[in-house]
Amino acid sequence: MNKKVTLIAGDGIGPEIVTAIREIFEAAKAPVEWEEENAGQTTLDEKGELIPSSLLESLAKNKVGLKGPITTPVGKGFKSVNIQLRQHFDLHTNLRPAQNIPGVESRFSGVDIILFRENTEGLYAGLEFYDDRLDIADTISRITKSGCERIIRSAFEFASKNNRKKVTIVHKANVLKIAGATLLKAGAKISKEFPGIQMDDIIIDNLCMQLVIRPEKFDVLVTTNLFGDIISDLCAGLVGGLGVVPGANIGDEVAIFEAVHGSAPDIAGKGIANPTALLKSAIMMLHYMQEKVVADKIERALYKVLSEKDNRTGDLGGKSTTQEFTQHIISNLEQ
Ligand code: NAI
Ligand code: MG
Repeated sequence: MNKKVTLIAGDGIGPEIVTAIREIFEAAKAPVEWEEENAGQTTLDEKGELIPSSLLESLAKNKVGLKGPITTPVGKGFKSVNIQLRQHFDLHTNLRPAQNIPGVESRFSGVDIILFRENTEGLYAGLEFYDDRLDIADTISRITKSGCERIIRSAFEFASKNNRKKVTIVHKANVLKIAGATLLKAGAKISKEFPGIQMDDIIIDNLCMQLVIRPEKFDVLVTTNLFGDIISDLCAGLVGGLGVVPGANIGDEVAIFEAVHGSAPDIAGKGIANPTALLKSAIMMLHYMQEKVVADKIERALYKVLSEKDNRTGDLGGKSTTQEFTQHIISNLEQ
C-alpha cells in the first residue's frame, strides 16, 4: 500500500530536482503517494501565507516530508522557512552524511563522515535585536542542557546501530566557555550510556583545518546549529560538492528530508542542477519508512549512472542535463 508523503517543491532549482525524484520514484514503483504543498515567497504571493496551514496539517498528518530548497532573503525579509519548519515540528536532529560516492573520483578517498547538527537552538533560535539608539545588533545564541543531551544521544544511538567507532563533539569551549561546557558535560553524561563507543572532542577551528587535510580520520561528528551548518557545506566539498550531499531533519514525530544545498539561483531554470543530493535524501527517507528494498534498487541505479563520467551533471564534470541524468537512472533500474 502506498504511504502518503508531503512534497514541497521549493524555489530555484527545487521544482527541477523534485520532478526528477518523482519520475524516478514512479519508475521504481516506490510505494509513495505525494501530497503536494509549498511554502516561501511563492505561497506568500499566491495565498498570503509564508507557511500555509495546509502544509503544516499535511506534515502533521503524514509525518514524513520531502522538501526542495526554499530561498531566504539575505539581510532582510522573512525568517527562514526552513528554520521555522524545523522549530515548529521540533526536528531536533539534522543528520548530514558526507561520504565518497563509489566510482566518483574526488580530491579525497575514504571520507565517511556522519554529521549531527542540533537543529532548533543556538544562534538560529531567532533571538535577534537591533537597538536603534545605540546602533547595536545582538544575536543571542541559546542552547539548553536537554537540547545538547538530545542531539548527542541521537549521534550515539546512530553510532551504536551502525557499528561506528567514535563520536567527536565539535565546540568552541575555549572562548564560549559556558555554552561549550554545557555541550561537553552533555557528552560526558550521554557517552556513559554507550560504553562501546569512543568519544572525543575538538575545537572547531582545528577541525576545519584537519577536515581539509585528513578527512578520512573522522567518523561521527556532533555539534551546535551554526557550526553544523557551516561544517556540512565544508564536508560536502570534500566528496564532490553540494550536488551530492543529502540530509534529514528528524524529530520525535515528524521527519523532513532535504538536500544540504539551497535553491542555487545561479543555475535555476537552466535544467542543469544535480538531483543526486535530493535523491539521496529521498533514499534516506525510504529507509526511514522501512522501504529498504526499493531504496537499495534506486541507489544501485544512481551509483551505476554516476560511475560513468559523461552521464553525470556538469557539477561532477559530466555532460548530462538534469532530465538526461534522470532518464539514465530510470533506464538503469532493475525490473
Ligand atoms: P546554494 O546551496 O543554493 O548554492 C551554492 C552553490 O552550489 C551554487 O554555486 C550552486 O549553483 C551550487 N549548487 C547547489 N546545489 C546544487 C545542485 N543540486 N547541483 C549543482 N550545483 C548546485 O547556496 P546559496 O547560493 O548560498 O543560497 C541560495 C538560497 O538558498 C538562499 O536563499 C539560501 O537562504 C537558500 N538555502 C536554502 C536551504 C534550504 O532550503 N534548506 C539551505 C541552504 C540555502
Ligand atoms: Mg546551510
